[in-house]
Amino acid sequence: MAEHAHKPQRIVVGISGASGAVIGVRLLAALRRLGTQETHLIVSASGAVTAAQELGMTRGDLDSLADVVYNVRDIGAAVASGSFITAGMVIAPCSMKTLAGVANGFADNLLTRAADVMLKERRRLVLVARETPLNLAHLRNMTSVTEMGGIVMPPVPAFYAHPKTIEDVVDHTVGRILDLFAIEHREIAQRWSGLADEFTERRSGVDE
Ligand SMILES: Cc1cc2nc3c(=O)[nH]c(=O)nc-3n(C[C@H](O)[C@H](O)[C@H](O)COP(=O)(O)O)c2cc1C
Repeated sequence: MAEHAHKPQRIVVGISGASGAVIGVRLLAALRRLGTQETHLIVSASGAVTAAQELGMTRGDLDSLADVVYNVRDIGAAVASGSFITAGMVIAPCSMKTLAGVANGFADNLLTRAADVMLKERRRLVLVARETPLNLAHLRNMTSVTEMGGIVMPPVPAFYAHPKTIEDVVDHTVGRILDLFAIEHREIAQRWSGLADEFTERRSGVDE
């Protein structure tokens, strides 16, 4: 049997300086609970600032959530090479600056380099891009990443799930990220299983 068959899959998690550090944090916590993936964390300098501002978390707090931690300036780290096998990478949240770097192959730090590697190796890359409203550069960069095979997944709330807390809203996004990596999760986010009969009847009444 191949050596890697015994080991959990590796997944690279990036946290950049967009609002929504909580998404990366709850994603890491979920991955730890599930225990099927080895998490490799890269936090940009601005990502550390937003985590402190939004969550009161230190760099050490963030690092404690991951299995392996990298310095964003360590361009020689394992995840900078395609020969280091991973299931893929998610950047959550992804700033418009990091999106621009990925979209243009401008790999000037380990975060954008690791994402660049995912695209060149044709591995799963999910960018939880967070900004609003969007200018044309943002939209064009999202198009470029999509054309290269990456997935742009803004953290948009799903109101049909009747979220009651911020954690509910975030966990819906976390669940959808895990879905994109085919990572089984039952408890993290509720799934849509069709409209309840009462709404279906009302709807068909309108159609008739
Ligand atoms: C509190 C705070 C919130 C921010 N929110 C966003 C945001 O939602 N989206 C975004 O693209 N940039 C946001 N920024 C700006 C980025 O942090 C900034 O462009 C930075 O250079 C991104 O660097 P990075 O991509 O290397 O993390 C925010 C900055 C701060 C301090």
